[in-house]
Amino acid sequence: MASQEILLVSYSLGGHTEAAARAIAGRLGAAREAIAAPAIGRGLAGVVRALWSALRRTRPPLAPARHDPASYSLVVVAAPIWAGRPATPALSYLATHAAALPAVAFVLTHGGSDPTRAFEMLAAAAKVEDFVAELTAAAGGARGANREGSGSG
Ligand SMILES: Cc1cc2nc3c(=O)[nH]c(=O)nc-3n(C[C@H](O)[C@H](O)[C@H](O)COP(=O)(O)O)c2cc1C
Repeated sequence: MASQEILLVSYSLGGHTEAAARAIAGRLGAAREAIAAPAIGRGLAGVVRALWSALRRTRPPLAPARHDPASYSLVVVAAPIWAGRPATPALSYLATHAAALPAVAFVLTHGGSDPTRAFEMLAAAAKVEDFVAELTAAAGGARGANREGSGSG
């Protein structure tokens, strides 16, 4: 797949997902979109607001996206797990852009949680029943699994 056919969209609070997204985008030659959620912010206050947002299931408003996902063949969405769920800014992004998404793939970083339910929540937010691939990046390594189907629902 040629480079500008892939858009790698990522949200990162502490930098781990950012590092994973940078590495994957480099391998794929993908364009990059960093999700910005000003209401979450950074630092310790950001962690508290992140936990609150995850537990209350809020959908924080995002800064406008720079790339139109509909212009790509594949959109990879990368996010950390918060309280067992995908980081809420990633869910905001998917809810906003679901209708414009082509095939999708998801990357989750976490500290050891089973990510199965979080992947399902990403797929539900993207309104896809199937997605191209999933990759879980946790401390000590990563595991990947390919799925059939293009997920362009
Ligand atoms: C508010 C908050 C909640 C978290 N909840 C979980 C969790 O339920 N399970 C888990 O495995 N890791 C959890 N983590 C750890 C992050 O998922 C992990 O460190 C991730 O790689 C952070 O990505 P980032 O540095 O890109 O923000 C949590 C982190 C934060 C800040």
